[in-house]
Amino acid sequence: MDLKGRGALITGGSKGLGAALAEELARAGARVAIVARGAEELRRVAARIRAAGFEAHAVPGDVGDKRAAHAIAGAAAALVGPIDVLVHGASTLGPTPLRLLFDTECEDLEAVLQTNLVGPFRLTKIVAGAMAIRGSGLEVHVSSDAAVAAYPRWGAYSVSKAALDHLNRLWAAELSSTGVRFLSVDPGEMDTEMHAAAMPEADRGALARPEQVARRLARLVADAGRIESGTRLAVAEP
Ligand SMILES: NC(=O)c1ccc[n+]([C@@H]2O[C@H](COP(=O)([O-])OP(=O)(O)OC[C@H]3O[C@@H](n4cnc5c(N)ncnc54)[C@H](OP(=O)(O)O)[C@@H]3O)[C@@H](O)[C@H]2O)c1
Repeated sequence: MDLKGRGALITGGSKGLGAALAEELARAGARVAIVARGAEELRRVAARIRAAGFEAHAVPGDVGDKRAAHAIAGAAAALVGPIDVLVHGASTLGPTPLRLLFDTECEDLEAVLQTNLVGPFRLTKIVAGAMAIRGSGLEVHVSSDAAVAAYPRWGAYSVSKAALDHLNRLWAAELSSTGVRFLSVDPGEMDTEMHAAAMPEADRGALARPEQVARRLARLVADAGRIESGTRLAVAEP
């Protein structure tokens, strides 16, 4: 997909992978809207991208909040035009330090699912219909290896990412004849705030930079037409 002039909505765009991907897609010519709860940081990222000569807009909002979903999608479309690319990057670990399932409150599991699963589901329900009418569109669900492996203490997050992967497959199956495509992408371990919160003892020097991963992810977005819709793939370097 030639990203020039395309509308892209990236949730989790104020930090880490989302912020780096916003810059990459904007550099490729996309008109980018980024979403996160922290408005100040979000606006700083958008301003930095604009200062580099590209287009980016801040749309503050909480993807886990049902009442915010239409406002997020509406504001983004008003700023960048029809959404051609939707990247579901916003995510939460739940309470840290990460805890065993027996020590996980039901409310914490629900909150993680709201942000990591129901939020993307809701946004897709709002955005994918218009994509289908236009006969094209791409959605990327940002997953994790925790969706596949059963790491002790990663319970709520793992469950949400496993469900997100399957949501990806189901959307792809149900919308297979519409031209709207879905990918689920495991970005691999990156040196971000989320990683530091989950694994404070990790050697940060051994982790990928989100900017490196964002470059690979941006190439994948551009080449998505060649990948079967519903596929789950990893972008980490071998
Ligand atoms: N880092 C890793 O090693 C790693 C590994 C595998 C997968 N991933 C996945 O990669 C994606 C990016 O992770 P990251 O490490 O770059 O995270 P990060 O640096 O912690 O950034 C998370 C972003 O999501 C936003 N966010 C969180 N909750 C939100 C909500 N309810 N509504 C809107 N925005 C929200 C945050 O901003 P606010 O807090 O201001 O809202 C921030 O912009 C996530 O889906 C994560 O699960 C990361």
